[in-house]
Amino acid sequence: MRYTGRIVGAGSAFPERVMTNKEFEAFVDTNDEWIRTRTGIETRRIADPSKGENTLSMAHAAAKKALDQAGLDPKELDLILVGTITPNTVMPCTANQLQALLGAENAFGFDLQAACSGWVFGLSVAEQYFASGKVKNALVIGVETLSMLIDWQDRSTCVLFGDAAGATVLQRTEATPEGSGIIGINLGTDGRAQDLLCIPHGYCKVPPWSAEYSAKQHKIKMQGSEVFKLATRTMVKSATELLEQHETKLEEIDYFFFHQANIRIIDHCARALGVAREKMWINVDRYGNTSAATLPIALEEAWKSGAVKPGNLMLFATFGGGLTWGSALIRL
Ligand code: UT7
Repeated sequence: MRYTGRIVGAGSAFPERVMTNKEFEAFVDTNDEWIRTRTGIETRRIADPSKGENTLSMAHAAAKKALDQAGLDPKELDLILVGTITPNTVMPCTANQLQALLGAENAFGFDLQAACSGWVFGLSVAEQYFASGKVKNALVIGVETLSMLIDWQDRSTCVLFGDAAGATVLQRTEATPEGSGIIGINLGTDGRAQDLLCIPHGYCKVPPWSAEYSAKQHKIKMQGSEVFKLATRTMVKSATELLEQHETKLEEIDYFFFHQANIRIIDHCARALGVAREKMWINVDRYGNTSAATLPIALEEAWKSGAVKPGNLMLFATFGGGLTWGSALIRL
């Protein structure tokens, strides 16, 4: 018998504050029309740490919703995986803090750093634990407070990102051809292109307490148009390879989830693969790019709205800094 994990719950959480495109006009040379037409973004959520909004609080709120839907007590969790590059603290990691907050005393867990691909990388780790039979229930989260890493004077990046958490609960199940669960995951990294999207300073090489540490270098740097081209090409390639590996035709997919970074990237991928807009969940207009959180949030919204239903075959594709990418074929 072969085991996999099936998604039994999803939840999301956002800071209260909605920031509009217009607000950027007060401090950078941009405008609502440029942001809307070049990215598809209209609003994003920005955390206010003075109100207790941070990576852990959002992960906690999203996890509780996902556990509720799954009908699972936190004590039943065996594994907590958190994809994030913005943990509240590096030690303890978010998964440890969350374990304590949830009272998930029987779980072990850790954070994964794969930027925007964090949730898909987390799913792939959970998949291995399910396959080995070691884990029955897993919480896999993508969460980011990127507002902390944004250079608010850099118009080419500050308008793009938002803060949020997306959580999923997965349960071990027997892998059968028509059964619910993860069917396959395709991952990739390319450290040679790391300079295209990175945060140059911070932690061991140039720690925040060293003399060379520069405020601007600990912020997100991106060569936008290069990343745009690579993201499009790579997500399409990863998804195509995954479908081939699993002898699945594009027409068999009921619903598509592309990383929500830019509506033009999503549309390029959809055009290259031949996917209609009606079969894709889009929320980049409301939240901007929430990095590792985009895909689980989109899944939760699509599921709760009835756009995807149990039994549906779903294809996820993501691309992020580092560089990292991945795709996942999952039956709900
Ligand atoms: O999450 C994973 C990865 N992230 C992404 O996937 C994001 C990938 N990249 C993108 O989404 C797009 O490349 C951007 C939205 C970042 C930029 O759009 P673009 O169409 O590629 O624009 P560009 O970088 O080629 O810049 C075109 C012009 C430039 O001005 P000049 O040199 O032509 O005078 C930029 O300075 O647009 C200018 N520009 C802006 N203008 C007004 C860049 N940002 C802004 C802005 N407002 N916010």
